[in-house]
Amino acid sequence: MTAARALTDGERDAVANMANLAALIWQFLPALNWAGFYRVIDGELVLGPFVGKPACIRIAIGQGVCGAAAASGETQLVPDVHAFPGHIACDADSRSELVVPVRRDGMVIAVIDLDSPSPARFDTEDAAGIEALADAIAMLI
Ligand code: SME
Repeated sequence: MTAARALTDGERDAVANMANLAALIWQFLPALNWAGFYRVIDGELVLGPFVGKPACIRIAIGQGVCGAAAASGETQLVPDVHAFPGHIACDADSRSELVVPVRRDGMVIAVIDLDSPSPARFDTEDAAGIEALADAIAMLI
């Protein structure tokens, strides 16, 4: 969190901040194959800065794990993506996923999406950490 604050300190450009935060998550969390942002733009999720393989660009709110997080405003901790109805397989290697909504003024403005090739890679501690990050950076993206 200190690193996230230091990286974004005094920087107002949303793309620059999301790019560095995606890289920071990638650097510090082991066993990821994708880490990045989708932003809510005109009522759908649109791909933002990320680390990983190229991904689907637009996701309807309510669709897949990211869409479920955006629709509900709730963190989605998915130990087995194959068991999640409507999961969107951007990278066939992904086995588990953590998606945390970013809220500003009570509205979901983006989600942070983390994928892993390991089953059940993410736990509630990871979720709490990414939720704290989401709160800290909501005004910066
Ligand atoms: N798996 C996600 C789609 C985004 S990619 O994983 C980068 C989903 O089901 O929402």
